[in-house]
Amino acid sequence: MSGIEGKIVAVTGAGSGIGEATALLLAERGAKVVLGARRTERLEALAARIEQAGGQAAWIRTDVTRRTDLAGLVDLARQRYGRLDVLVSNAGVGLISPLDDLRVDDWEEMIDVNLKGVLYGIAAALPVFREQGAGHFVNTVSTAGLRVVPLQSVYAGTKNAVRTISEGLRQEAGDSLRVTVVSPGAVRTDFTERMDPEARERIDRMMETALSPDAVARAIAFAIEQPDGVDVGDIVVRPTAQA
Ligand SMILES: NC(=O)c1ccc[n+]([C@@H]2O[C@H](COP(=O)([O-])OP(=O)(O)OC[C@H]3O[C@@H](n4cnc5c(N)ncnc54)[C@H](OP(=O)(O)O)[C@@H]3O)[C@@H](O)[C@H]2O)c1
Repeated sequence: MSGIEGKIVAVTGAGSGIGEATALLLAERGAKVVLGARRTERLEALAARIEQAGGQAAWIRTDVTRRTDLAGLVDLARQRYGRLDVLVSNAGVGLISPLDDLRVDDWEEMIDVNLKGVLYGIAAALPVFREQGAGHFVNTVSTAGLRVVPLQSVYAGTKNAVRTISEGLRQEAGDSLRVTVVSPGAVRTDFTERMDPEARERIDRMMETALSPDAVARAIAFAIEQPDGVDVGDIVVRPTAQA
């Protein structure tokens, strides 16, 4: 048995990109996956794909800006499969732009999704992990927080806030819970679709050498498959060509 077989893993932002690749890989390796995002048609199609391949998947519409939706995702895992072993908080938006543009609505959306969305996941899963005496938080952050560059300060700030909170959570977690942050570099996904044209032009150049989302999925799987007493704290996965 690998350390993934039989685990119950909930994934936010599961309908596309890194979340989708992670759900597919973990299901292929024997996890029962619980899929959350807003576009339900994507979740339904992904769950059907996983089940056709012999895996098990459940899904529920989850907007991570709503605390009750995260509670619903965790509840679904428990109702359908009896417990929750791992919460992958992966949903995120990268509405990058110059600060001078004062796109305050975009700043707020990044804080609501990237930061508060992760906190709501912690609020939903932590009591369950405590009750079970085991559990694993995996939070998708970004190399944007490791090398801060123009246009990305608010986005990087939300990701570094999650990095900091994750370390605090690890310290408070005691010896039975695990906390992992994964920092992807450029990954070829739909992530750039909502960026403003100037930002998108710069990022599209980086995307020429971007990774496939599978590379990040494999890093997440590596953290999950470790024996219970092994906490992989921090993984950085970027293209070799990335500055
Ligand atoms: N691509 C990169 O280069 C890169 C690099 C570093 C880090 N990341 C991080 O990786 C994570 C995944 O992004 P990705 O690259 O895979 O892009 P993506 O394909 O755009 O995936 C982002 C996912 O987040 C979901 N999402 C957005 N707002 C949400 C909300 N309010 N509630 C629930 N789900 C929401 C979207 O689903 P719905 O729209 O259906 O809700 C989507 O499935 C993000 O946290 C991102 O910051 C990406």
